[in-house]
Amino acid sequence: MRILSVETSCDDTAVALVNVSRNRFSVIDSLVSSQTKVHAPFGGVVPNLAAREHLKNLPVMLRGFLKKNKISSGNIDLIAVTQGPGLIPALLIGTNAAKALAYAWKKPLVGVHHISGHIYANFIDRLSLTSDVGEIRFPVLALIVSGGHTELILMKKHLDYKIVGQTLDDAAGEAFDKVAKMLGLGYPGGPIVSAIADKFRKSFKVRPFPFPTIHREIPQGQTFQLPRPMINSKNLDFSFSGLKTAVLYTIRDNPKILKSVKLKSALCYDFQQAVIDVLVHKTVQAAKKYKPKTILLGGGVSANKELRKQLGEAIKRLLPNSQYQLPAAGYSLDNAAMIAVAGHYQYKLAKNKNKFDNNWKNLEADANLKLV
Ligand code: KG4
Ligand code: ZN
Repeated sequence: MRILSVETSCDDTAVALVNVSRNRFSVIDSLVSSQTKVHAPFGGVVPNLAAREHLKNLPVMLRGFLKKNKISSGNIDLIAVTQGPGLIPALLIGTNAAKALAYAWKKPLVGVHHISGHIYANFIDRLSLTSDVGEIRFPVLALIVSGGHTELILMKKHLDYKIVGQTLDDAAGEAFDKVAKMLGLGYPGGPIVSAIADKFRKSFKVRPFPFPTIHREIPQGQTFQLPRPMINSKNLDFSFSGLKTAVLYTIRDNPKILKSVKLKSALCYDFQQAVIDVLVHKTVQAAKKYKPKTILLGGGVSANKELRKQLGEAIKRLLPNSQYQLPAAGYSLDNAAMIAVAGHYQYKLAKNKNKFDNNWKNLEADANLKLV
């Protein structure tokens, strides 16, 4: 089965062609056009600008993509598109393009939840730190961390989602973006803050794992002691806005941070570690409670090397019976291949239950689409 997919929920315009054979997914081609430069001066994504860019880019990208991969109505079996959640003006561009193709080619169309896509990104070119590549075993516990979401999701089977923990305010990626903005580092903040933190770690002797250690010394006698919000709460929810405010107050009380590369780097390191401590701790707590066979990571923040590593180390040490899965390189951040994979499972399930809605007209973009 060959699936053509489209993703335009935020500031990336993405199309992909994925082949499915015996539940193995191979990405034949995947294109992502980033709008980072357009939004950077505003320090965040401007919805109408995002829609304008999608509208400008998507038709050109699609035309080139179809031609390059010799795609026609005769060799496509399914079209998948991100239905929500996201920015409605942005979502509308992708869903309308997908609907037009489904109509013109008389092909089935599925609307995919963006988070479902991030989960199923783990099924592409599988990468496992704790065992050889094999089937992903259920129950699965997914930690999805992106610019808009921070959620712990339990899956007893395919497409069966139960949110067992989530952020009460900012998402982890959003906190990275805001901290980068406060430090004048640019947008998007995650990759910049993590690159600075990694460089800082390499140049100084820092605390060893075990986890979770809360305080550590910063060179030059400076200790920021950022909080780990809700790390000791009884539930599995998160909060990152307090951490963001703590960074703001730290900068306000020590204005020399903004002028010192070393202090800025130390603060980036400390902030990143605070986020990782909370994410790892809560995931371990959730896993102890729900005993998943697989723990998987997804969303833009899953590109963070230190998070990938520290979560892997914690699982190996504390949860030896759980397998650890990560999205393959290139599939942490928004892309359309993950939408094709999730769309495949949706299509298969609906067909098996005789419940597939074959009318493309019924697919509506939904900014607040619920996962469950
Ligand atoms: O999943 P994604 O591409 O878009 C949304 O669905 O939001 O995630 C984007 C988020 C941004 O907040 C970005 O700063 C963050 O992922 N991000 C990172 C890293 N790379 C991207 N955060 C921490 N470390 C990274 N290496
Ligand atoms: Zn995303």
